[in-house]
Amino acid sequence: MAKFRKIGVLASGGDAPGMNAALRAITRKALDEGMEVVGVVGGYSGLIHDEIIPLTPRAVSNIISRGGTFLYSDRCDEFKTEEGMQKAIATCKKHGIEAIVACGGDGTFRGATDLTNRGIPTVGVPCTIDNDITATDYTIGFDSAMNTALKMIDCLRDTCESHARCNVVEVMGRDCGQIALFTALASGAAAAVIPEIPFDEAGTIARIKEMKADGKRGFLVIVSEGVFTEDGKKYGEVLAKKIDAETGIETKFARFAHVVRGGDPTLRDRLTASRMGVRAVELLLEGKSNLVVCEIDGKITDLDINYALIADRNYKNKLKPGDLEKFSAEEVAAMKALAAQRHEEMLDVYRMVAETSK
Ligand code: F6P
Repeated sequence: MAKFRKIGVLASGGDAPGMNAALRAITRKALDEGMEVVGVVGGYSGLIHDEIIPLTPRAVSNIISRGGTFLYSDRCDEFKTEEGMQKAIATCKKHGIEAIVACGGDGTFRGATDLTNRGIPTVGVPCTIDNDITATDYTIGFDSAMNTALKMIDCLRDTCESHARCNVVEVMGRDCGQIALFTALASGAAAAVIPEIPFDEAGTIARIKEMKADGKRGFLVIVSEGVFTEDGKKYGEVLAKKIDAETGIETKFARFAHVVRGGDPTLRDRLTASRMGVRAVELLLEGKSNLVVCEIDGKITDLDINYALIADRNYKNKLKPGDLEKFSAEEVAAMKALAAQRHEEMLDVYRMVAETSK
C-alpha cells in the first residue's frame, strides 16, 4: 500500500453542489488513514500562487449540506502553461504535497494528468452540474442543479396555466443538453431543445397549436444554453418570439443561468460525493493515479484519465488528429460503443418528452 504523508485537495472549474461533500469525504478519509491533508485555495491557481491551508477534521465540519466550495474554485489559464505548471510543482514540493485529489470537470482532469506526468500522482473526482463527462454515468452536482431548475420551472408552470401562456426556459449545459432534457421530461414540458439532437421547430410549433386547440392552457419549452441559431444567437430567446408570433400564445423567456449551480446538494449528490471522495483516497493508497473516479451502472469505479478525456472528445465530435492512436483497437471500439450508448440514452428520453406531452 502506498504511504503518502501529505496530500492536497482542490476544487477547480465551475462549482457544483456536492463539491463540499466530496472535499469533506476526501479530507476525512485521508486523515483517517493517517495522512496530513492540505486544501489548495482557488483551484489550480492556488497551487501556482501558493495558497495552501491545513485541513483538520473540524475544517470540513458543517459543509456536507452546503453548495459552492469552501476552498473556492477557478478556471485557470496559467496552469495550462509550462511556467504555471512548474510554479504549481514548486508549491507542492515546498509543502511536501505528495499527491492530489482534484474535484471538477474535464478541464480539471487535463490539469490532473499534467500533474501526474510531472511526478505528483493525481486522481480526479467528477463534479459538474452538466453531467457531461462521457466516461461516467453521473457527475456530482447534476441532481441538485436539476432539482433547483425543476422547482423554478414548476413555479413557471403555475403562472403559465393561470394566464394561458407559454414559457421558454434556458438552462445551463455548455455542450450538453442533459439538464434541459431531463428537466423537460420531469416538468411535463412540450419540448426539449438540446445540442445533441436536431430540433423540429415547425413540428413543435404545430404540436403546441394542436394542444391549444385541445384546450391546453399552459406550455413549457426547455432549451439548453448550448443551442444557437445559424447566425450565432442564443436559440431560446429566438424560439420564444417565434412561438409567440406563430401560435398567438403569449410567450415569455426565462434564463436560469448560474442560479442552478448554487444551493444545497441533494441526497443523491451528497451520497455520490461521499462515495467517490472515499474511493479517490483509496485509489491513491493502492498506488494508483491518473484516474478519474466514475459511477458506472450504480457502482463506483475508476478509469484512466486520458482514456476518459479522449472518450469524451470522441462523443462530442472534438477528436484531434492522433487522439485515438495511443489506444488499442479494443479501447477505441469501447469508446465508440460508449458514444453510441450515450446518444441512445438521450434519444430515449427525448422521445419520451414528445410522447408524454399532449
Ligand atoms: O460548470 C458547467 C457550467 O455551469 C456550464 O453549464 C456553463 O456553460 C458554464 O459552466 C459557465 O461557466 P462560468 O461559471 O465560467 O460562467
